[in-house]
Amino acid sequence: AAPVQADISKLHPGQRMTVEWRGRPVWIIRRTPEMIARTETVATERLADPDSNHPQQPAYVQGALRSIKPEVGVLIGLCTHFGCSPLYRPEPDAQADSNDDWSGGFFCPCHGSRFDLAGRVYTGMPAPTNLEVPPYHYLNDTIIVVG
Ligand code: FES
Repeated sequence: AAPVQADISKLHPGQRMTVEWRGRPVWIIRRTPEMIARTETVATERLADPDSNHPQQPAYVQGALRSIKPEVGVLIGLCTHFGCSPLYRPEPDAQADSNDDWSGGFFCPCHGSRFDLAGRVYTGMPAPTNLEVPPYHYLNDTIIVVG
């Protein structure tokens, strides 16, 4: 399938946009400095695979944010459990249980998996692995090529 281009020039901080690639939704999230800080400070013991050691992302996306640029996240928008579409819940506690201080990110409505704003799955969730990062690169400052 052909690569797809995404124009992120109108994507405001905090917003998410979706493009389709190979029949799958690809999310592009413009993270605010606060969202970046919040993601980088999620306690790693709360994450099932904090360093994304599963071979499911390109080698050029490393670190907590799993992206080429810290402020722009690119993720396949399908839960790694049974493929439902998680909801974008960027604010802390938007879907949290009373005994859980989830830091916000993505919430799967099917069986309750929670992911952070880099798509990293929390421990004890039905989803076995982090959300997938597709292959992508920047054509220029505002155009991302997925695929
Ligand atoms: Fe997402 Fe089951 S499909 S938690």
